[in-house]
Amino acid sequence: MTAAGLLGDIAGVGADPRRGGFSRHGFDRSELELREWFRAAAVARGLDVETDRNGTMWAWWGPPGDGAVVTGSHLDSVPGGGAYDGPLGVTSALVAVDLLRARGFTPGKPLAIAVFAEEEGGRFGVACLGSRLMTGALDPDAARRLTDPDGVTLADAVRAAGLDPAGLGPDPVAMARIGVFVELHVEQGKGLVDLGAPVAVASSILAHGRWRFSFAGEGNHAGATLLTDRRDPMLPAAQVVLAARRAASGIEGARATVGKVVPNPGGTNVIASTVDVWLDARAEDDFRTRAVVADISDAARVAAEEEGCTVTVTEESYGDTVIFDPALRDDLAATLGDVPALPTGAGHDAGILAAHRPTAMLFVRNPTGISHAPAEFAEASDCAAGAAALADVLAHLAR
Ligand code: GLV
Ligand code: MN
Ligand code: MN
Repeated sequence: MTAAGLLGDIAGVGADPRRGGFSRHGFDRSELELREWFRAAAVARGLDVETDRNGTMWAWWGPPGDGAVVTGSHLDSVPGGGAYDGPLGVTSALVAVDLLRARGFTPGKPLAIAVFAEEEGGRFGVACLGSRLMTGALDPDAARRLTDPDGVTLADAVRAAGLDPAGLGPDPVAMARIGVFVELHVEQGKGLVDLGAPVAVASSILAHGRWRFSFAGEGNHAGATLLTDRRDPMLPAAQVVLAARRAASGIEGARATVGKVVPNPGGTNVIASTVDVWLDARAEDDFRTRAVVADISDAARVAAEEEGCTVTVTEESYGDTVIFDPALRDDLAATLGDVPALPTGAGHDAGILAAHRPTAMLFVRNPTGISHAPAEFAEASDCAAGAAALADVLAHLAR
């Protein structure tokens, strides 16, 4: 079976007719169905599957052990996301095992496929939730209190999925098992298209994070309330959207995005009483990222005051710039015949693990350059090239 074929097997899971693409979120029905699919696919390959305290699934080729060669990715998506972000890394890992078996390879070290929970933060708001919990980058008490849009806490969601919420948090046993981690991922830009190559290794990830701007004003009637009598939190909320573009434009390489705005109560003929706005900001380093956020926060405060509203700004997640282990990156690039190295603006579990373990990524060409949207794509031949490259890398690392 090919990686593209395996993606075809799961194409019916979490398909979102309203948004287009897929909506698969941590511990929801779709993601749990994909977990069962992964379990069956791994067991069919003779791998032993276990789920750790933070909901990470591990499929072991041979006995689990410390210092393993680990590959994998995630199965959740953004709301209305593409088919490849996450699942391509998981399916390619399964195919890489098939390829290695067909080559008669036997790992000289423990080897595992890991599937991390809620990488996109599409349900509970914190990206790379599973890997942040495992590494200790996220306080487990704060994590347990996270809520989804329906008010379900992470604690309740993991309990419903058969995990003990008390077990969430730093997991030194799981960490000790990772000797090296390699995540294969669809490229989320056009770097490989421009280079005319199917596969690259990753060089770096931008510093990035998420901030919630909560504006409070006064709910009232859209027709009966004079403009001069209003305290409408939607006005300063709109200023955040505009300030995000302006602030990021002023700093080379910076990006700032408002992709989610939630007015409460959210009626056409109702002046909202509160509005939550989520900002995603990224730049080359911590200093530039924080400068963008500070600029937008200042604009939000001024706009809130002008409208008689209040605003609180909360950092929901943050990760500094990641430079992937240069020696490992060069070793893998050479193993694959001097493939190019590309930076990315997208976050990954590999980026979280990079602070703790030698970590690398492989990117597979995306002809559309689009990601986090249904147009995300990779040709079947490039998926095959990616899986073969992953097999080569695993064979090299687990020799
Ligand atoms: C995840 O893909 C992110 O970059 O937010
Ligand atoms: Mn993503
Ligand atoms: Mn991803």
